[in-house]
Amino acid sequence: MAFLSTSMARRLSLTAGLTAIIAFVLAHPTCSAPAKVNQYCAPSSCGNIHNISFPFRLKTDPQNCGDLRYELSCENNRTVLYLFGGKYYVQEEINYNNYTIRVVDSGINKDKYSTPSYSFNRYNFRSQVSYPPTYTLYQMKKTKSEKFPELSRGLVLRSCEKPVNSSLYLNTSTCNNDNSSNYVSHSSKRYRYVKVGKTNAIDVGDSCQVEKMFRTSWPRNDDPNISCTDIHNELEYGFEISWLYGICESFCERGTYCYLNDANSVQCAYNGA
Ligand SMILES: *[C@@H]1O[C@H](CO)[C@@H](O)[C@H](O)[C@H]1NC(C)=O
Ligand SMILES: *[C@@H]1O[C@H](CO)[C@@H](O)[C@H](O)[C@H]1NC(C)=O
Ligand SMILES: *[C@@H]1O[C@H](CO)[C@@H](O)[C@H](O)[C@H]1NC(C)=O
Ligand SMILES: *[C@@H]1O[C@H](CO)[C@@H](O)[C@H](O)[C@H]1NC(C)=O
Ligand SMILES: *[C@@H]1O[C@H](CO)[C@@H](O)[C@H](O)[C@H]1NC(C)=O
Ligand SMILES: *[C@@H]1O[C@H](CO)[C@@H](O)[C@H](O)[C@H]1NC(C)=O
Ligand SMILES: *[C@@H]1O[C@H](CO)[C@@H](O)[C@H](O)[C@H]1NC(C)=O
Repeated sequence: MAFLSTSMARRLSLTAGLTAIIAFVLAHPTCSAPAKVNQYCAPSSCGNIHNISFPFRLKTDPQNCGDLRYELSCENNRTVLYLFGGKYYVQEEINYNNYTIRVVDSGINKDKYSTPSYSFNRYNFRSQVSYPPTYTLYQMKKTKSEKFPELSRGLVLRSCEKPVNSSLYLNTSTCNNDNSSNYVSHSSKRYRYVKVGKTNAIDVGDSCQVEKMFRTSWPRNDDPNISCTDIHNELEYGFEISWLYGICESFCERGTYCYLNDANSVQCAYNGA
């Protein structure tokens, strides 16, 4: 080796290093999860959520437990998920059977009518830069139409300069049961409405603006008339999101995707297959 120049030696060892990496990748084609991820740490708990385990982890867990993309924190005995800049509380449990987690905006007060602190809609998901996406709005389970169904539906809070005369719109000013509600304090001069479902500007004319969008997984009510109680239930129930897409690589080879069958067991499939 003495006759090799330093740069040659460096190049050689670099090549050797690369070869080692390639060999490792070839030898572990299905194991692409970061090496540090440990699926087998003891579950953690926070408040009434007792089963925080892979891929989830608490901020206070040992660094090698769970997957850092699925980090939760425990604040005042409540399990918190920070998502797209918003703060959400984890409701009830994490569903390891169907890979969903239900969360609710931290601005929602369960005892009185309140509005979310954050706007949340499908565009948040589209703007995710990481691949695979950490969370999806839809359940990775095929329906008869072959499409993955969404786990929640949208609600839109609008504020309008002029009154809107439509039974499909709820005048949310009527929902306040006290004056401390964060509703009135914002802009009492405007008329505020919530409509469940798609936003359609033509419905209400130009005087309305979308103030916030949010989502709910509360079972749909076929009655087109919505009440303050409906809205409250929808907000307080929160919405489900799925994390299966984000961890497909721990089940299936790279270049494949995964989905659930009717029995909620993970299946691997090639794109386009
Ligand atoms: C946190 O929640 C647990 C379980 O619900 C309860 O036993 C405990 O007393 C709570 N601690 C605080 C500080 O609220
Ligand atoms: C906790 O989650 C694990 C999977 O991560 C599951 O095997 C176990 O049954 C769950 N326990 C409870 C009590 O839900
Ligand atoms: C997932 O499982 C939980 C608990 O079993 C259930 O409440 C929830 O509705 C399920 N979600 C879907 C989309 O099936
Ligand atoms: C909405 O409800 C508030 C409070 O009941 C009422 O003062 C207001 O006139 C209503 N606005 C419309 C457009 O119905
Ligand atoms: C609202 O619309 C209904 C029917 O479309 C009409 O009968 C009613 O007078 C309208 N109310 C107002 C305040 O414009
Ligand atoms: C709300 O404010 C109105 C007028 O400012 C007052 O008359 C009413 O008593 C207040 N209601 C409550 C529940 O504080
Ligand atoms: C919806 O509300 C309107 C007016 O309040 C009422 O006339 C109508 O019967 C209601 N529709 C249903 C399905 O409850």
